[in-house]
Amino acid sequence: MKQFPKNFLWGAATSAYQVEGAALLDGKKASQQDVINEKSFEEKGFASAEIASDHYHHYKEDVALMAEMGFSTYRFSISWSRVFPDGVGEVNEKGIEFYRKLIDELLTYGIEPIVTLYHYDLPWALFEKYQGWLDRRIVADFEYYAKFVINEFKDKVKYWTTINEQSIIVQYWTQKCYIPKELQSQNQLRYQINHHMNLAHATACKLVHDLVPDGLVGAALGYAPIYPLTSKPEDVLAALNAHDLRNAFYLDIYFKGIYTESAMTYLQENHLAPIVEPGDMDLIREGYSDFLALNYYASECAKACPKESGKAIRYSGVNLSGKKGEISGFETHPGFYEMCKNPHLDTTDWDWAIDPFGLEYAFRDIYTRYNKPLMITENGLGAFDELTPEGKVHDEYRISYLRDHVKAIKRAMEKGVEVWAYCPWSALDLLSTSNGVKKRYGFIYVDRTDDDPKDCARIKKDSFYWYQKVIQSNGENL
Ligand code: BG6
Repeated sequence: MKQFPKNFLWGAATSAYQVEGAALLDGKKASQQDVINEKSFEEKGFASAEIASDHYHHYKEDVALMAEMGFSTYRFSISWSRVFPDGVGEVNEKGIEFYRKLIDELLTYGIEPIVTLYHYDLPWALFEKYQGWLDRRIVADFEYYAKFVINEFKDKVKYWTTINEQSIIVQYWTQKCYIPKELQSQNQLRYQINHHMNLAHATACKLVHDLVPDGLVGAALGYAPIYPLTSKPEDVLAALNAHDLRNAFYLDIYFKGIYTESAMTYLQENHLAPIVEPGDMDLIREGYSDFLALNYYASECAKACPKESGKAIRYSGVNLSGKKGEISGFETHPGFYEMCKNPHLDTTDWDWAIDPFGLEYAFRDIYTRYNKPLMITENGLGAFDELTPEGKVHDEYRISYLRDHVKAIKRAMEKGVEVWAYCPWSALDLLSTSNGVKKRYGFIYVDRTDDDPKDCARIKKDSFYWYQKVIQSNGENL
């Protein structure tokens, strides 16, 4: 089997609001995630972002544990409202200082930072000012923030990712963005937000190219390959339609600077298309990507949905209970496609299909279409981990999931796909975007519950030791 290259980057990922805590400390002001998660704490009992995994106070210990696992990289995001509490204007010295210390700590251990500029946490001040991503003014403010951060770290950070998971933001927009109740039925706004993000993404790509010597930049895309439910031609075509609207619609922007025709036509016919102003597509073309960072958890499945089905347009459902089968519904676009469960695949407790072949398929397909290097910036298994009375976490299921996905990457590489990095989700347990802290992903257990932050003590799971061996053997000892 092909070996991983010597300089392959092994690490893991997190995002600011999901690990840091210190939500209103040292000058940081609220982000939209502080508001969204406060509400979900009140309504669903999921932890808020106030303390999260308290990484803000534990970062040295966390980086030391990453080094002990052998990480050569760590993908994390910067909290915009920690650096600019009001979104723009005065920089918060203590806020930027936190990231200086974090990055220096990583570099001391020889861990290469992969920095994400935006991971769902818009400064709340910008929502109050003009409703955040709903307004085009956001692009200029994002540029202001990105320019400052990129300039600050241009000599220490080579790899930059711009916006996390635009595709997932479109699907789950009220979770990932604060959307006022009265606007939640206006689905066109999902694509308008996405268009503003395309402009912000392109702007950040240009900044990295202009400011960072040897800098490399790309988006981090939430990506699921889409299989047809059957080999009936209408299902196969539905899967292609779903691919065009859910995947190509982003990839074509990043790598070709265009909106996918079939997807745009569907959106226009249904009054969902974004308003694109003169000059926008030029900016998008200028802000080209050097690589694609892929967040891969699951594959998806689609079937035909005739226009005459009488169904209405709807977006992805979510499983809030952690009981298999309780997903609240599937995305439906009558006349284009309807998503559905794949009967051939087992799922996690939250109904995410477990499919290592899907990663191999995605890598092969994307590489053939766009011929750009790839990295994994998220991949992992959300589970109810149990801390034994002896202080252990036996997460064999996670090891098995990750092992199969590393093998899939290897197989894709054997077919010529260029892969730079593997950063599973997540380095340590953190606040899930949809299910509180009881749904865990980390190699490091964080001792807290949804309603009791306790002391957030760090405990090494079995997967910690497994991953250590994987890294030590450069992916040979799985
Ligand atoms: C990705 C996000 O969509 O999936 C992460 O980039 C997120 O922020 C991860 O945590 C897992 O999803 P969830 O909903 O289980 O937290």
